Amino acid sequence: MKDINILAIESSCDETAAAVVRNGRTVLSNVISSQIDLHTIYGGVVPEIASRKHTENINPVVREALSTAGMKLSDVDAIAVTYGPGLVGALLVGVSFAKAVSFASGKPLIGVHHIEGHISANYIENKDLEPPFICLVVSGGHSHLVKVKDYGEYEILGRTRDDAAGEAFDKVARAIGLGYPGGPKIDKVSKEGNPDAIAFPRAKVEGSVYDFSFSGLKSAVLNYLNQCEMKGESYVHADVAASFQKAVVDVLTEHSMTAIREAGMKKFALAGGVASNSALRASMEEACAKEGIEFYRPSPILCTDNAAMIGAAAYYEYLKGNFSTYDLNAIPALKLGER
Ligand code: KG4
Ligand code: ZN
Repeated sequence: MKDINILAIESSCDETAAAVVRNGRTVLSNVISSQIDLHTIYGGVVPEIASRKHTENINPVVREALSTAGMKLSDVDAIAVTYGPGLVGALLVGVSFAKAVSFASGKPLIGVHHIEGHISANYIENKDLEPPFICLVVSGGHSHLVKVKDYGEYEILGRTRDDAAGEAFDKVARAIGLGYPGGPKIDKVSKEGNPDAIAFPRAKVEGSVYDFSFSGLKSAVLNYLNQCEMKGESYVHADVAASFQKAVVDVLTEHSMTAIREAGMKKFALAGGVASNSALRASMEEACAKEGIEFYRPSPILCTDNAAMIGAAAYYEYLKGNFSTYDLNAIPALKLGER
């Protein structure tokens, strides 16, 4: 069969990214221009600044993706783009650019769901991975426990009722003075801390064994810090970070294992920015090994936002002939499984 090369674009949050992916699994280029430094001084992503930066970056980033892959626009078979969920202004830059490139080149357009991209990141380095499997998608904006029934076919088993896992990491990191983005920093300092030092709560959500809630845990950490301050006691940053991280990881692992057992699945994959957390990887790997479940996770660079994962997801839409029309719009609250 002829090789299918897809030029993919991602601009849903604070990374302007473009990639060329062959047959959904081989990355020919993966260019990521991160705006993290710009947003760090504000302690989080400022949507207007993100949109403006995407506008400046998108052209050079797409050109670099093509040149690194050794390709011209005429060599690619389709243009894929994230059209939701995400920040509307940020998404619009990618969507408008992709539509223009598609129109000018005559190549078909494929709109991709951002979470579907995160899940599909697993296909890139695990050439043998095929649905069905259970996937835990944990990022700054989402915490979803998903049954991947087939390519492009998803059933959401559980989701967060409040904060996303990454959001909780970022907020706790800020509270203990680690700065933004907090996830990688908590991961690092936790290595020097005792995860059993402080008994933070493992929240249960009424009516669902799969849903998550992280706002109570976040409040428990803030209360602990306030109490220490009021009593004039100091606390060990690394112990707070490690105990908080353990509480998150315990809940994510327990819910994932329940989903795997209930669904009778033999494969499990992690996805999203928080999937690069070392404690979560170790915990899920161990739990899966104990029950004979095949464990998959992308390399850290493919866990956080990138366009290679969008190209991987788009390939399976290409095979089905699921192309988008030029009225494709940015949908900030796009649901998984909707097109
Ligand atoms: O997937 P992503 O790049 O963006 C969204 O789609 O939201 O995820 C970013 C999130 C941030 O909240 C960041 O703190 C978190 O992923 N993150 C981590 C780690 N690396 C990134 N959280 C915990 N441990 C990490 N090592
Ligand atoms: Zn993401």
